[in-house]
Amino acid sequence: MSRFSQPQDPDFQAINTSVDFDWRLWRHDVAQSRAHAAMLASIGVISAPDLDELLSGLDEVAAELEAGSFAFAPDDEDIHTAIERRLTELVGRVGGKLHTARSRNDQVATDVVLFVREACADAQAGLGGLIELLLARAEKHLDWPMPGYTHLQRAQPVYLGHHLLAYVWMLLRDRGRFDAVSAACGVLPLGAGALAGVNFATDRSQVAAELGFESVAPNSIDAVSNRDFALDYLAAAATLATHLSRLGAELVLWSSTEFGFCTLSDAWSSGSSIMPQKKNPDAAELLRAKAPRIVAHHAALHGVMHGLPLTYNKDMQEDKEHLFDTADTLALTLAAARGMLATVSFDRERLAAAASDEQIAAVDIADLLVRGGLPFREAHGVVADLVRVAADEGRSLSSFDADELAAIAPTLDREALVALLHSGSWLESKISVGGTALVRVREQLAAARSAFAAG
Ligand code: ARG
Repeated sequence: MSRFSQPQDPDFQAINTSVDFDWRLWRHDVAQSRAHAAMLASIGVISAPDLDELLSGLDEVAAELEAGSFAFAPDDEDIHTAIERRLTELVGRVGGKLHTARSRNDQVATDVVLFVREACADAQAGLGGLIELLLARAEKHLDWPMPGYTHLQRAQPVYLGHHLLAYVWMLLRDRGRFDAVSAACGVLPLGAGALAGVNFATDRSQVAAELGFESVAPNSIDAVSNRDFALDYLAAAATLATHLSRLGAELVLWSSTEFGFCTLSDAWSSGSSIMPQKKNPDAAELLRAKAPRIVAHHAALHGVMHGLPLTYNKDMQEDKEHLFDTADTLALTLAAARGMLATVSFDRERLAAAASDEQIAAVDIADLLVRGGLPFREAHGVVADLVRVAADEGRSLSSFDADELAAIAPTLDREALVALLHSGSWLESKISVGGTALVRVREQLAAARSAFAAG
């Protein structure tokens, strides 16, 4: 029985089918079918024996899918039709009752929201592990001086612990974003039917409670049109991936011979097919390169959704592969970030040597003059002159004698300058809140730990 008198063109079937990828939704599809069937029985639309048959049939279907023995048929357009087809083969006509008061439109929206909810939980678990590890690594390297950079030029010294904690704050914000996505996943679409509601007094709250939703979508049109939660998830994932890519980029730089700040473990490095000496930071490079892929998934789904008339359109089938690949990529990148950070070893001496470059005390020298009453802008000029002459002559800032200094920067007192350069205090003087002085970094570590514990 069909509305159609011709068979489908094979190319139509090829473009239309989604079962090759949406089979991944089967657990969610079975779960919502169980909840839906139970609700139909409790409002008397199907009988208790019908429910028993449907539930045991769904158990069998789930067991086949779990075992990998489920035989997909050529006409299984998507996972929803495949499951209903197999259910009906197993339990007979009663299988046809399952789709009462339900459309694939509210069904697929429900599967997708359940998938995204789970993907958020996975992201949170991965994030939690990574944050915990970074907190431990920050504590271990709390007072290791290193140069801080802007424009990838040595700028001002910081402690490695401070630098690692920067990632903790980034990831804590990511966690907040995924929390917001999880909240957006708390609204049940099922019960909206195709778009207008259904011809039965269904108990949507019962289904919501069984599936762990906070509430039911209040508008059937919005319920089947909405993919905001998917966009929100992809946006959160894109920002997290961007953070991980910056971490990857730093590991690539830092592990180079030029920097020599750290060594990646062998377990997280690869060799070269031709150059025997090479130890390549491939995973860090891939961490760097995976971010644009997730950003593209986010942009792609916006492309799919923008300009779509309400309600469901087949375009929306294209949400899935973007979501699936994002979830898989995120899991991999989080694991790689964690694996590399857990095993990387930092070179304390090399970091300290780079941080003791006198040039990076330039702001501190200017502030010395500011304390003597010079406006900062003028002090900046004085130090710039000194730095220029030192660079031109290939000399260190502390190498100028009193006469030379008087000629270049008469306002600068040589003793005070040398004392400053030798004190090593350029880190410990950064006492502003959030600064790199050790007392502040300790304070920050404690704050990060409690922010983490509060989440
Ligand atoms: N495979 C479809 C999707 O993923 C399921 C919904 C189909 N609904 C429809 N009215 N054809 O979007």
